[in-house]
Amino acid sequence: MLKPRVAVLVSGSGTNLQALIDARDSGRLNSGELALVVSNKSGAYALERAKRAGIATATVARTDFSTREAFEKKLLSVLAAHRIDVVVLAGFMQILSAAFVGRYPDRILNVHPSLIPAYCGKGFYGLKVHEAVLAAGETTTGATVHMVNEVPDGGRILMQKSVAVLPGDTPETLQRRVMEQAEWKLLPAATEIVCADLSKQLEREAF
Ligand code: GAR
Repeated sequence: MLKPRVAVLVSGSGTNLQALIDARDSGRLNSGELALVVSNKSGAYALERAKRAGIATATVARTDFSTREAFEKKLLSVLAAHRIDVVVLAGFMQILSAAFVGRYPDRILNVHPSLIPAYCGKGFYGLKVHEAVLAAGETTTGATVHMVNEVPDGGRILMQKSVAVLPGDTPETLQRRVMEQAEWKLLPAATEIVCADLSKQLEREAF
């Protein structure tokens, strides 16, 4: 089987990366190879998780480049050097340009901690999403895995799962429940499906 090579882009603690590593180790993620982890923040704990799991790492910090174009050019060159087929955004806190996304059409996935179209787009990321959900008095929230296009959180939805908001929740307790019950399950499952489809396509092309 030709396994697509997957890069996981991270910015922080990397619990979603850990879910992908665990899925690899248990055989639930078998159609793609976790080939590279790239952080846009030096010292992100996700890099430690990657190293422990034997995955190559790179840091491409936005602050090291004067323009987004220069940052994305470097990121693209790192992905090309590792022959990456699929890009998974797992807590990657940097919006990518249309030009970047156009280089990996239908091959970039993102996990977002809400039920898109609710609480998504510019300004909604990380804990801010859960703060907004609690401030609005919602009783249900969830997570979404979607393809990435030029609109922030706007690409085709692949999977969603709802999660209850409970009385007394803080943004932190809600974030944790959304991760445990939704994100850590959906992201590996969606990555497996995208890689399995691409693997068949690569095999047809190689034939
Ligand atoms: C996750 O909840 C992820 O869905 C969210 O950031 C967190 C990263 O945690 N991503 C976004 O808000 C993107 N818009 P992690 O580093 O532990 O995976």
